[in-house]
Amino acid sequence: MPETTPHGLRRLAFGGDYNPEQWPESVWQEDVRLMREAGVTMVSVGIFSWALLEPEPGSYTFGWLDRVLDLLHANGIRVDLGTPTVAPPAWFYRAHPEALPVTREGVRYAFGSRGAICHSSPAYREAAARITTELARRYGTHPALALWHVHNEYGVPVSACYCDTCAAHFRRWLDTAHGSVEAVNDAWGTAFWGQRYASYEEIDPPRLTPTVGNPAQQLDYRRFADATLRENFVRERDILHRLAPGIPVTTNFMTALSQCDSLDYWSWGREVDLVTNDHYLITDGRRTHVNLAMAADLTRSVAGGAPWLLLEHSTSGVSWQPRNPAKRPGEMARNSLAHVARGSEGAMFFQWRQSRRGAEKFHSSMVPHAGTDSRIWREVVALGADLGTLAEVRGTRTVPDAAMVWDWQSWWAQGLEWRPSEDHDARERADSFYESLYDRHLTVDFAHPEADLSAYPLVVVPALYLVTEAAGLNLRSYVENGGTLVVSYFSGIVDEHDAVHPGAYPGALRDVLGLTVEEWSPLGAGESVRITGPAGDSLPADVWTEFVVPRGAETVWTYADGPAVGRPAVTRHRLGRGTAWYVSTRLDATALDTVLRAACEDAGIDSRDTLPRDVEVVRRSGESGDYLFVLNHTADEAKVPLDAPGTELLGGERADGQLAVPAGAVRVVRLDA
Ligand code: GLA
Ligand code: ZN
Repeated sequence: MPETTPHGLRRLAFGGDYNPEQWPESVWQEDVRLMREAGVTMVSVGIFSWALLEPEPGSYTFGWLDRVLDLLHANGIRVDLGTPTVAPPAWFYRAHPEALPVTREGVRYAFGSRGAICHSSPAYREAAARITTELARRYGTHPALALWHVHNEYGVPVSACYCDTCAAHFRRWLDTAHGSVEAVNDAWGTAFWGQRYASYEEIDPPRLTPTVGNPAQQLDYRRFADATLRENFVRERDILHRLAPGIPVTTNFMTALSQCDSLDYWSWGREVDLVTNDHYLITDGRRTHVNLAMAADLTRSVAGGAPWLLLEHSTSGVSWQPRNPAKRPGEMARNSLAHVARGSEGAMFFQWRQSRRGAEKFHSSMVPHAGTDSRIWREVVALGADLGTLAEVRGTRTVPDAAMVWDWQSWWAQGLEWRPSEDHDARERADSFYESLYDRHLTVDFAHPEADLSAYPLVVVPALYLVTEAAGLNLRSYVENGGTLVVSYFSGIVDEHDAVHPGAYPGALRDVLGLTVEEWSPLGAGESVRITGPAGDSLPADVWTEFVVPRGAETVWTYADGPAVGRPAVTRHRLGRGTAWYVSTRLDATALDTVLRAACEDAGIDSRDTLPRDVEVVRRSGESGDYLFVLNHTADEAKVPLDAPGTELLGGERADGQLAVPAGAVRVVRLDA
C-alpha cells in the first residue's frame, strides 16, 4: 500500500515549485542555502521539464535532475517529483500535430504554451507513459523522493477536446455508460427537435451548433472529458505504484469553485493517495479569507476528512488577474495557517525563485526579484519557523460543525443554457451559504448528495439542481432520522440526464420539504422584493421568486410584495425526528443568517455570537492533542474565550480564560488534555 503522506517527511511541508532548470547551476547552491535558512522541508521539481529530460524522442538527459535531487537530499530537503506530462516537447507535436486539442468551435490550438493536449490521443498517452516509466525507474528509489506529482492541474487550461479522436473515444464511453444507442436516445431525449441517432457513428461531441445543443449530450460530454483526464492520471499513477512501491502519488487539484469547474473532484479524491490543492486568492472585492476557508474545507472533504496538503499558493500577488495586488503584511502567514487549520499538512508555494523570463515572471515567489532584503523573504523565513513549531499537528483532523451538499455534476447541468434566469448562479449560492455559516463560526464539511450525512446536526443544500432519486431518498432519511436540512430554490429539479423529475417541482425533494412549487417567477435585473418573518420583521430578496404550495410544511416567511406576494417564501417541515427548511428566493449572506440562526436552533447548535466577526476559530484534533487555531483577519486585537486552558504554540506561552490575538495575527493553542 502506498503511504498517504509524503514519504520520509516528519514535519509540515514547507517549500514550493522549484524550477532550477531556469537558472545556471551556480544559483542552485544559493537556492539550497536559502531553503535551509527558511526551513524549507519539501520542494516540487520537474513539473514542466519534459523537453529538458527527453530532448529527442527516446534519448534522455537525466544528469541535471540527478544533481538537483542529490543536492536537495544532501541538504535534507524532500522532493515532490513531477511527471512532466502537462508539457510535451515541440518534437512531439511535430510528429503528432493531431495531439493538439480542438475547441468546440473547431479551432486547433498551437504549441508554445502548456497544457495543449488531446487526452484521447494514443500518441500522447504512449509518450506520457514512456517518460513516466523512465522517471519512475530512475528515481523510484532515490532517497529524496517523498511524493509523485503527476501532471499539473488536470482540467486547466483545456478541459475538453472536440477532435475526431475524442469523438471516437466518446462513442466508446457512451456504449459503456449506456449500453446501446437506444439507451442514449432515451437518456438524451432525442425525440425533441428530431435528434434521434440510428448508430453510434452518427454521434459527435457537442460541437458548435446554431442554437442550444442537446443538454444531456453536453452533460455527458463533461462527464466523458472528466473521465478521460482521470484515465490518464490513473495510467501514470499505476506505473508509479508499480515501479516505486510505497511512494504516494498525487496530482494538484484546484477545488476553489472559481478556479476549475471541469473535474468531479469527488471521483478524483478516490484515486489519489494524498489530496493536494492549489489555491490563489481571487481579488474581486469579496472577502478573500472566506473564499480561502471554503476552498480548504472543500479540499478536506474531497480527502474524506483526512489530512491533505496545500501544494501551491502565492507569497504575494499573482499575475493572471486583471489587477494583482500584493498581499498585506502578515497576510501570507494567515493564508497559510488558515489552510493548516482546515487540515493541510503544510503550506507550499508557486514558486521558489521568481523567474526572469517566461509567462509568470511577475508572479510573486518565495525568493522575489527584490532578493532576500525584502518583506516577502523575511515573512517566508518567519513562516518556515512557525510551521516548524507546529509539526505536532500533523495527522490531526479538522473538526466540522455542519455540512454543505455539493456536486460538480449538478453544477455542470445547472450551467447549461436556457434556464429560468441567467441571474441564478449555483456557485454564488454556495458562496453565500458558506459565508453565512462562516459568520456563525461554523466549520463546514462538504458532502456528496448520496453520502452518509448522519454525523452532521445541520446540512445545507444551496443549489442542487440535479438530484438523483437516490440522493432525494438520502436527504429524506437524513431528516427523518433527526437531521436539520436547509434547501435553497431550484434544487431537486432534474435527474442525472437533465430530465425533469415526473410531477410537480421539486420532484426529488417534494416529500422531504413537504411542498410543491407550481411555477417560478424570476425577477428582473436589479429588481428586489421583501419577505416578512414571524416577528413582523422583513428581509430583502432578489433574483428568484416562486409559487410554493405547502403540503405539510408550515410557512415561516411570506412574500410581502412581488409576483409571489402573499405566498410562502421560507417554509419549515417537521418530518420524522427532524426538520427541513426551504428558502424559495435569493437571500444574501446577511439575510440568510436569520434563517440559518433558526435552523441552528432546530439542530441544537450552540450560538457562537460572542466570537467577533472575521476572527476564525477552527479545531484540529487527534492523537497528539486538541488544537485551536485562531486567525484574526481584522485590524483590531481580538479576545477569544477558551473552553479549556492550554499552551499557545507560536509564542510558547500559557493561555487561560481569554486569548488575546493581535490584529492580523494567528495563535494556535494546544488545549490541555
Ligand atoms: C498554477 C500552476 C502553476 C502556476 C501557478 C501560478 O497553480 O500550477 O504552474 O502557473 O498557477 O499562476
Ligand atoms: Zn481530442
